[in-house]
Amino acid sequence: MMVIIGRIFRSLFYTGLVALLIACGSGENAISIPPVAPSVEPGKTALKRLPVSYNDVMVSLINEAADPIWRAGWKTPETDRDWRQLEHRARQLKLAGALLSQPGSGPIDQQWSLRPEWNKWAAQLVVSGDAAIKAIDARNREGVSRAGDTMVAVCEGCHLDFKPDIPTGGKYGDLAPLSVNDRE
Ligand code: HEC
Repeated sequence: MMVIIGRIFRSLFYTGLVALLIACGSGENAISIPPVAPSVEPGKTALKRLPVSYNDVMVSLINEAADPIWRAGWKTPETDRDWRQLEHRARQLKLAGALLSQPGSGPIDQQWSLRPEWNKWAAQLVVSGDAAIKAIDARNREGVSRAGDTMVAVCEGCHLDFKPDIPTGGKYGDLAPLSVNDRE
């Protein structure tokens, strides 16, 4: 009996929800998605420009993903879930390396992207991300630590070659690339 009442309530709830959505959709508060020109021309696979600057890629993606990898070098992840999270980070770094081969939308990103050294460092980031993924898959903390060390060398190498003293965006202040604020 309770099950049947439960079902009735649930179906009433969904009916109400659908009615609400329809009401919203036709009202003034309708959610509208603004039309955006695709960033990839039809028939072409390469992006012309990333929708964010390299500095944003650094701060929002690369730095965020690298910190947990370095931390895992001295503090072994405890659960299987922790390892899987770490694998996501390593994959983000590998992807970030690939993204850096496309010009970002920062003021001098295009020039950077055309330099062979730039692309060499970007490719090294892909390689060190891949090494981290393999070590994580093997649940090998030593391997993660080694991949993390290589990665530091890649970050520093590219920063020595390219990073200006004052960040071009000026949004984030003077973040040290290796600052791990929450070391445990
Ligand atoms: C292919 C070159 C390259 C690689 C590889 C690279 N960076 Fe960067 N990074 C830069 C450049 C160039 C800037 C400055 C961007 C700007 O000012 O527009 C930068 C800026 C940053 C910033 C922002 C710093 C600030 O002062 O605003 C952080 C954080 C950062 N990088 C972290 C890292 C970390 C961590 C790694 C490695 C896991 C890494 N980067 C790898 C080129 C690189």
